[in-house]
Amino acid sequence: MERTLILFKPDCVERRLVGRILSRFEDKGFGLVAMKLLRITPELAKQHYAEHVEKPFYPSLEKFITASPVVAAVLEGPEVIRVVRDMLGPTNGLNAPAGTIRGDFGSSRQMNLVHASDGPEAAKREIEIYFRADEIHSWTPTLAPWLQAEDEK
Ligand code: CMP
Repeated sequence: MERTLILFKPDCVERRLVGRILSRFEDKGFGLVAMKLLRITPELAKQHYAEHVEKPFYPSLEKFITASPVVAAVLEGPEVIRVVRDMLGPTNGLNAPAGTIRGDFGSSRQMNLVHASDGPEAAKREIEIYFRADEIHSWTPTLAPWLQAEDEK
């Protein structure tokens, strides 16, 4: 069982798409173990996007990501890190295939609706940035036996 950090970005919150996109992850069978609304500060943006701070697009990215609240969440499930990235599609909505979240809702490279951790190390680091241990709630959904067979786990 894996966990991943997702951020519904300011464009997603402003366009009132949080519920519809969260539904896709729930429909897939992933479990919600943490969620909060927050405003990303410039300091937090630099911490989250440390690998992009020196890139030419960073000032614009920081302006965008701090412009309105975001919803941060932790999803849990089998291979959730890779599968959520696949469900999002490529960074630029104009290149994202129909059926992916960015393909269906997005037409921008920067305003690409949702961030998701790109690997296990990033997931651990990003979950720790946004959530204290006591804000993460492990639980077994009643439907668990109907999402995957025992011998697949
Ligand atoms: P995300 O997956 O959250 O990771 C970095 C973010 O920077 C990315 O989504 C986009 O929102 C943004 N981004 C990536 N590349 C560019 C770019 N070339 N120009 C502007 N924004 C970008």
